[in-house]
Amino acid sequence: MSPSQPIIEAREVFKVFTAQGNRHDRRAFLALHDVNLAVDAGRFVALVGPSGCGKSTFLNMIAGLVRPTEGIVRYKGAPVEGVNTDAGYITQDDNLFPWRTLQENVEVALEFRGVPATGRRAEAGKYIAMVGLGGFEHHFPHELSGGMRKRAALIRTLIYEPDVVLMDEPFGPLDAQTRVILQDELLKLWEGSGKSILFVTHDLVEAIALADEIVMFSRAPGTIKRRYTVPISRPRDVFRIHAHPAFGDFYDQVWRDLKEEIIEVALEVRER
Ligand SMILES: Nc1ncnc2c1ncn2[C@@H]1O[C@H](COP(=O)(O)OP(=O)(O)OP(=O)(O)O)[C@@H](O)[C@H]1O
Ligand SMILES: [Mg+2]
Repeated sequence: MSPSQPIIEAREVFKVFTAQGNRHDRRAFLALHDVNLAVDAGRFVALVGPSGCGKSTFLNMIAGLVRPTEGIVRYKGAPVEGVNTDAGYITQDDNLFPWRTLQENVEVALEFRGVPATGRRAEAGKYIAMVGLGGFEHHFPHELSGGMRKRAALIRTLIYEPDVVLMDEPFGPLDAQTRVILQDELLKLWEGSGKSILFVTHDLVEAIALADEIVMFSRAPGTIKRRYTVPISRPRDVFRIHAHPAFGDFYDQVWRDLKEEIIEVALEVRER
């Protein structure tokens, strides 16, 4: 990969799904339509758009879990073929192993890499301390709160230092206070790391607080409607992001564009 090459690139990507359900009615459904996107290394990009517009499908393509019907997705310059284990993927469901303790969950990737037990413990301990989970190493996931599980899922991915982290509504089900605390922790872990993050969210405040750039998908069939550069410098105070002088106008602009898509989806549903 040359330094000027984007780390992720989608070119003229289309995705058609065929419903499996009824043998006599296998309707083709166009989920993504002519998606073109290039993401440079080190960027934090938020993906927003109405429910069902193909955001998760797009992340799944970068992770190599779904193939485009047409077009190409490149990762570090090479087409994604098969599961892309180089990229970290944090899904909405935290996917911790219920039979493993917090520490054993965090160590998993190092175990796969054959790192000896003492090295694993030291590294996991460092990450566990970074997100304030010290003292909970031997707790099982069901003994942790929702916010603690999200932290565990985050560091379980970051510990193997992926250059790209895909995050699909990672803080979705949390209460508002815990979300903001986790956003702040994520920014602290990310800033200066050089990693690229693709972060799907329905929360525009979250997108503005975290991202360098917001990519808005249209309603289905999803295509990129607009890209915005977030006009707020770093480091950011996520707790007071509303108070930034550039916040109000920028939020209104992005929300106006998103609202158009959401209203159209609502009208289409009503007409059906
Ligand atoms: N494996 C699949 N088979 C058939 N249809 C699928 C499959 N995966 C996704 N779809 C369809 O593709 C469309 C886009 O789904 P996707 O999950 O990517 O949307 P999304 O933007 O992530 O939505 P949300 O914001 O609700 O998570 C939806 O209509 C969904 O039903
Ligand atoms: Mg989704």
